[in-house]
Parts: sequence; structure tokens; C-alpha cells
Amino acid sequence: MRVGVVGCGLMGAGIAEVCARAGQDVVVVESDADRAAAGRARLTASLEKAQAKGKIDSAAEVLERISVGEDLQALGDREIVIEAIAEDESLKAALFAQLDQIVKASDAILATNTSSIPISRLAAVTGRPENVIGVHFFNPVPVLSLVEIVPGLLTADETTRRATDFAQDVLGKHAIRSPDRAGFVVNALLIPFVLSAIRMVEAGFATAEDIDEGLVRGAAHPMGPLRLADLIGLDTTAAVARSLYEEFKEPLFAPPPLLLRMVETGLLGRKSGRGFYTY
Ligand code: CAA
Repeated sequence: MRVGVVGCGLMGAGIAEVCARAGQDVVVVESDADRAAAGRARLTASLEKAQAKGKIDSAAEVLERISVGEDLQALGDREIVIEAIAEDESLKAALFAQLDQIVKASDAILATNTSSIPISRLAAVTGRPENVIGVHFFNPVPVLSLVEIVPGLLTADETTRRATDFAQDVLGKHAIRSPDRAGFVVNALLIPFVLSAIRMVEAGFATAEDIDEGLVRGAAHPMGPLRLADLIGLDTTAAVARSLYEEFKEPLFAPPPLLLRMVETGLLGRKSGRGFYTY
């Protein structure tokens, strides 16, 4: 398929990589030349690592299927476009309005990788809400096999079927269906768990290291909740928590003050070099 990806950060680059590794032709669009160059470097580094581990024959061959640029018009001929820009509703809504004008095929799927913004609200800014759907990947995208498929209220059954087939048959992921509610299935469970761990640190109940060791060694989690918060990004964790809290008004979803202060201070986790741990 002719795939478009908007955004080449952590998630966008991962999505572009799995699509190209699955043999698809991928056009990635970033907002400016510096970000496009950084995105290209991120893709190259990840694919070279995959090649060094013997997971792919040739990074260069996969990279040939990916073009990274700055012009949204390059998405005109795409059959599916997956948006993976910052978790900001006004930015995403503005982008969907533009994609509606740019993407020519009337049956093209306009997908969003949002973690928490209602699909129906993004669909509403387009003239084709039947083609808009959530296709939510998990970080690291090349490693984690889940995709949540999230139809909005007006998404056509055919769009849901095609997006599911794309995730499963083309990309080799496992798809689960989620309703269009903040947090979908996984984050509605995962984020309160991470927030509880942050509250434990905030209250001086246990150290980050002990909490993480506890969950890794005592519950066989691949990484503890505070290391996971650093991986997700503390800004993204806070943004998802805010959406969940706004939707359900349940205290368990409220971002703890420590998380908010860390974000305001620029301690964003792995991507900024420091969060609950230093990288
Ligand atoms: N890109 C590609 N491959 C990666 C990678 C990345 N960013 N990070 C790790 N890997 C690969 C490694 O190369 C390694 O591959 P091999 O086994 O073939 O050598 C494998 O994954 C395991 O990695 P490591 O040995 O370095 O480390 P690990 O065993 O500790 O695993 C991890 C790292 C995959 C991140 C694992 O700890 C894990 O799965 N953690 C949980 C992640 C998670 O829960 N993610 C969901 C976040 S929530 C989300 O994404 C949704 C949202 O909306 C916020």
C-alpha cells in the first residue's frame, strides 16, 4: 500500500519503520527541515541496529522505501495516512482538516495514532468522517505487537475492516478493538498504574528503584512503572492522564503534582535525558 506517516518522532519513526519493513512504500512528513533530518537519522539508526542484529537483510533496502520530507502535499496519492504528531488536539485537528483537502482517494484511510484524543472529534473536522479511525501503536513500535483499532461513531465498518487487515495482514501486528473513549483499552489500565507508582514516590513510600525492581522481579513486568513513564515520556504520560481525568473525572486518573512539576521543569524522561532516572 502507499502509506503516509505524519510526524517522525518516537512513534512516527517506529510506524514508518514497521510499514517499510513490511514492504510498503512510505512517505513521511515532518514540520520542518531540521525535524525531517532528525527523523531520517532516527530511522537510519534503528534500521542499522535491526540489520546488525540480523532482523533485516539490508537497512539500505528498507530505507529506499521511505522518503522523509516537509511537504504535506506529498501525501496526495496515499491510500492510508497515519498521523503521529504531538498529543495536542488543536494541532491534530488542524492537520486532519489539511489532510482532508490533500489526500485525493475518496476511500483513503485517515488514521490517527493518538493515545487519548477522541477519534470522533478529529473525524468531525473532515468531510469524510467515515474514513477516519484510530490505529494506536505501542512504544517501541518495532518491538510491541499490539495495535488498538478505534472506530469513531461515524467510522464506516469497511474502514474498520481495512485498517484491521492492514495492521494484522500487512504489518503482522495483533489488533484489538477499542471503543472511542479516552485511554482506549490499554492506557485506561496502564496510566493509573503508572500514576500510582508516581504517587508512591511523591509520598516517600518507596524509591523509584525499589518500586521498579518490585514489579520487574515480583510481577515479571518487562520494566517497572517509573522506567516505563520515562520511556513513554513524562509529558505524554501527563497529557494522557489529563485526557482520562477530563473524560471520567475519577481521582485515579488525575496527574499527581510531582509529575506536573517534573514536566514543567523539563524533566521529560528518556527523551530529555532525565526523568525518574538519568540517561
Ligand atoms: N526499537 C527497536 N527495537 C528495540 C527498541 C527500540 N526502541 N528497544 C528495544 N528494542 C529491542 C531490542 O533490540 C531487543 O531485541 P532482541 O531481543 O532481538 O535483542 C529487544 O527489543 C529487547 O530490548 P533490550 O534487551 O534492550 O531491553 P529489554 O529486554 O529491557 O526490553 C523493552 C526493552 C522492549 C522496551 C521492554 O522493556 C518492554 O517491552 N517494556 C514495556 C514497554 C511498554 O509497556 N510499552 C508501552 C508503553 S504505552 C504506549 O506506548 C502507549 C501510549 O499511548 C502511551
